[in-house]
Amino acid sequence: MNLLAPSILAADFAVLGEQIRQADAAGADYIHIDVMDGMFVPSISFGMPLISSIRKVTKKVFDVHLMVEEPQRYIRDFADCGADLLTVHAEACRHLDRTLQQIREAGLKTGVALNPATPLNALDYVLDKTDMVLIMTVNPGFGGQKFIPGTLEKISELRKKLDAKGLKTDIQVDGGINKDTLPAVLKAGANVAVAGSAVFQGDIEKNVKMLKEIMK
Ligand code: DX5
Ligand code: ZN
Repeated sequence: MNLLAPSILAADFAVLGEQIRQADAAGADYIHIDVMDGMFVPSISFGMPLISSIRKVTKKVFDVHLMVEEPQRYIRDFADCGADLLTVHAEACRHLDRTLQQIREAGLKTGVALNPATPLNALDYVLDKTDMVLIMTVNPGFGGQKFIPGTLEKISELRKKLDAKGLKTDIQVDGGINKDTLPAVLKAGANVAVAGSAVFQGDIEKNVKMLKEIMK
C-alpha cells in the first residue's frame, strides 16, 4: 500500500498541533518526525517533549526519523513519548543489528535509513530485522532541498532485491518529494513518501489530497 508521511519539520511550530490535525484529516497516513542531534547532521530540531505533546492531537502512526549518533541510547525514551516506528541511520549505528533488535523489543517497528552515498549492501544482513528501508533522496539535515535523481536507481535495485527474497519490506523516500518527483519514486518501487515543504507550504489539505491522488 502507498502511504504519505508529511514531515512536520516544514510546519509552523507556532501552530503545530493545528497543522498536524489538518494533515491528519486530509488523509495523511503517517506523521514523519525528524529528530536531529547537531552531530550526525548539522541542525538540531526537537526531541521527546515535543513528540509527547503532539501525541495528543492524532492517532496516526508516528514515524520517527532519528538523525542521531548512536540512537540506541534513546530507544526507551522514544517508545515512551509515543513513537510507533523508529528509523535509525545505518551510518550512525556501530551495532546496527543489536539496535534493531532493541527497537523491536521495545515494541516498535524498525526502519533503517541510508544516506545517498551509502550502498544498499549495508542492509544485507539485517533485512530480516527491518520493517522499512528509508532511501534518503537528499543528504539529511535540512528540509526544502532538491531531489537527487541518482537515488532512483538505488530504489529500483532495492525493490528488486526485496522481491527476489520474497520480502514485502516498505521502501520510504525522504527529501525533495513533491508532485513532480513523486511519480518517478513510486515507479522505481518506493511505497512510503515523506513530504515536508510539499505538504506544509500553502494549503495543507489541498497538498495532502493532491499527493495522495498521485499515490493511488
Ligand atoms: C531531511 C529530513 C526530511 C525533510 C524533508 O533531513 O529527513 O524529512 O523534512 O523535507 P522536504 O520534503 O522539504 O525535502
Ligand atoms: Zn526525515
